Amino acid sequence: MNETANRARAVVDLAAVRANVRALRDRAPGAELMAVVKSDGYGHGAVPCARAAREAGASWLGTALPEEALALRAAGDTGRLMCWLWTPGGPWQRVVEQDIDVSVSGLWALREVTAAARAAGRTARVQLKIDTGLGRNGCPPADWPELTAAARAAEAAGALRVTGVWSHFACADEPGHPSITAQLDVFRQALRTAESAGLRPEVRHIANTPATLTLPEAHFDLVRTGIGIYGISPSPEVGTSGDFGLRPAMTLEAALASVKRVPGGHGVSYGHRYLTPGETTLALVPLGYADGIPRHASGTGPVLVAGKWRTVAGRIAMDQFVVDLGGDSAEVGDLAVLFGPGDRGEPTAEDWGRAAGTIGYEIVTRIGTRVPRVYVDSERDGGVFGVHGAEEAHETHAAHAAHEENGTAAGTAAETESAANSTTDLAVNSATSTAISTAPTNAPTTAPTNASDTATAGTADGDTALTGGTA
Ligand SMILES: Cc1ncc(COP(=O)(O)O)c(C=O)c1O
Repeated sequence: MNETANRARAVVDLAAVRANVRALRDRAPGAELMAVVKSDGYGHGAVPCARAAREAGASWLGTALPEEALALRAAGDTGRLMCWLWTPGGPWQRVVEQDIDVSVSGLWALREVTAAARAAGRTARVQLKIDTGLGRNGCPPADWPELTAAARAAEAAGALRVTGVWSHFACADEPGHPSITAQLDVFRQALRTAESAGLRPEVRHIANTPATLTLPEAHFDLVRTGIGIYGISPSPEVGTSGDFGLRPAMTLEAALASVKRVPGGHGVSYGHRYLTPGETTLALVPLGYADGIPRHASGTGPVLVAGKWRTVAGRIAMDQFVVDLGGDSAEVGDLAVLFGPGDRGEPTAEDWGRAAGTIGYEIVTRIGTRVPRVYVDSERDGGVFGVHGAEEAHETHAAHAAHEENGTAAGTAAETESAANSTTDLAVNSATSTAISTAPTNAPTTAPTNASDTATAGTADGDTALTGGTA
């Protein structure tokens, strides 16, 4: 294992990103696709994920902050690129000089971009945003006629070109929510008003990942997909990632830092919220809330260790947490897999979202900078993608879910002061033990045939595998 990634790493499979972009494009065949890579590519690394998305046909990239867009240009991206979250005095001129589309939601922003374009001696590319009901950024419908008329005047004066009209959904992840059709109605009306003002935008767009997956009438000219390109479902109501042929790109794993026998009644971690139910083996996972592991998942977060799903025993601390292995054994250095695609028996980021009372988006995005991102390509490296220490038979994701429904999962031990066994002790499922050595189901890859080969190669021992890492 590379020294930098020795403690823990977030392994990002760029082939999964490419496959996800292709799957999302298939859902919106009449539209272009913008890969949203804000917040460092939802924690996956903006630059490598942007490159992968471009390769798979993303004709646009999108970021929230202008600085994020400028960083993509500095990394060599030359394609269509848009950023949308501005405050007065932002780096308008640099962004205009770099041919980045900017979002404008009000007259103050129109004034600033017009001045920047004049100073740069360039024509700014401006996308006007209408608030169709989200209540966040965007021009209120009442002010839209004035904004579109002012933008048209600036366009006629040569300062800018209105390249897009766009908006954002509030509840697209709740299919059937009445706000969805209401927002589409307002959007269509806003497009008519823009047209009447003389604007001829190249792209009209409103669809995020859930709308891309479930609402063809919202695709217009462009879909702006974020979470889907990282292979995570926007919400259980929309469906699972597998329902849409999406594959989670990130696997978060760490090497056990301590394994020791302790007697029954031993308190675990701050506050002693977990007491060992009997003599047992405790394993220490060297990741904590400083690394983005939510403290809210104390007593509930799922982890694959020594071939089984365990639950975090007691509190998650800043740098570490403990799992109770019960009667099982492990060695210092064995891998704990917090989340991954889920098809090798490990939990997913969505499982962590549920355990922590949040969403998969937050879980992956908040993985901290102390955790190196290690890039693999399960397509091009012959399926390199190792889940170490899990070669033995293990509980499947589905089996765990069934177990949980029966109320016997370790999650019920959450934050309890009583002795509880944090192991989900299911029967060994030999049918699934081979899953570790097979290729990801939807990654177009040459399947590795030997689990240990895969594991060895997948550790990204070479420095090259770390290029682009955000650590
Ligand atoms: C304006 C905007 N568009 C698109 C997206 C992508 O949304 P999703 O990740 O649900 O695809 C986001 C993300 O929050 C966003 O803020």
